[in-house]
Amino acid sequence: MRKVIIDTDPGQDDALAMMTAFGAKKDLNVLGITCVAGNVPLDLTSVNALKICELSGVFSVPVFRGCPAPLKRKLITAEHVHGKTGLDGTDLLVKKKELEPTDAVDFIIECTEKYRDEKITICALGPLTNIAKVLKQDTVLTDSIEEIVLMGGGFFEGGNITPAAEFNIYVDPEAAKIVLESGLKITMLPLDVTHKTLVQRNFLEKLRKSGKNSAIQAAKLLDFFERYDVEKYGSQGGPLHDPNVIVYLLNPEIYYGKLVNVEVEVNSELTRGMTVVDWWNVTDRPPNAYYINEVKENEFFETVLNNILSLEI
Ligand code: RIB
Ligand code: CA
Repeated sequence: MRKVIIDTDPGQDDALAMMTAFGAKKDLNVLGITCVAGNVPLDLTSVNALKICELSGVFSVPVFRGCPAPLKRKLITAEHVHGKTGLDGTDLLVKKKELEPTDAVDFIIECTEKYRDEKITICALGPLTNIAKVLKQDTVLTDSIEEIVLMGGGFFEGGNITPAAEFNIYVDPEAAKIVLESGLKITMLPLDVTHKTLVQRNFLEKLRKSGKNSAIQAAKLLDFFERYDVEKYGSQGGPLHDPNVIVYLLNPEIYYGKLVNVEVEVNSELTRGMTVVDWWNVTDRPPNAYYINEVKENEFFETVLNNILSLEI
């Protein structure tokens, strides 16, 4: 049982990632959900995380509010993709679950103390502001962090919010730089791999026909979420980004990548947030991330589907 903290900016694809994690009861112990501003402002991402917990029938996992803005920059959001609420496509409500009073950054630091011997994995699904804030605190025990597995970046695939940059890195490039320079074990699931997990029609059909509200609502979230990318890329389905972080933890053998050097542009406005990947090892910059660019697509969707269908409601 791997102990994980999911840091997230829900977001429809974040929602499916959380549901995939909740459905992996034998493999993942979700210690908490920490919310960050990204797809939509923090007031919405934090409530959206509560909605997804309730949708999944998960009431014991604590949800925390984190940073409302990037370390240095003005917040840029993505309502054009996720809609005004961040979970457009559904009208989920929060009936019982409440946000914890503790700040997300303090919660993560407390976990590094509490689980010193057992180690924790941080799953980062949004801008890396919370994680960078944790790493900047002297009180954090980084030895307790087994690995940071993050959805972010792009190289062969280019960018999605600018020609050069992927959204999570673009929103807070300074935070991404801190994470990549931390010396911790970093695994990146960039656009180069998430653009190979385009929502499949039969996957959506199985969710719709499951007779389970959580799966039916997940399909509705995807119907809304993928419309933007289907039109933009002219593809059959939209890229299902964030669940790749969770599926990587469950089935690493379906992924392929390389240990390479990755640096982030923080100075140029033109290429702000660009992840410069030394894939062919042409510099003497030390490798600092396991950068993934291949996945077995069908196995990916099978894992997401099975885990969502295993939810109680
Ligand atoms: O670029 C895709 C990433 O940005 C995903 O995490 C999506 O949820 C948005 O946060
Ligand atoms: Ca996200």
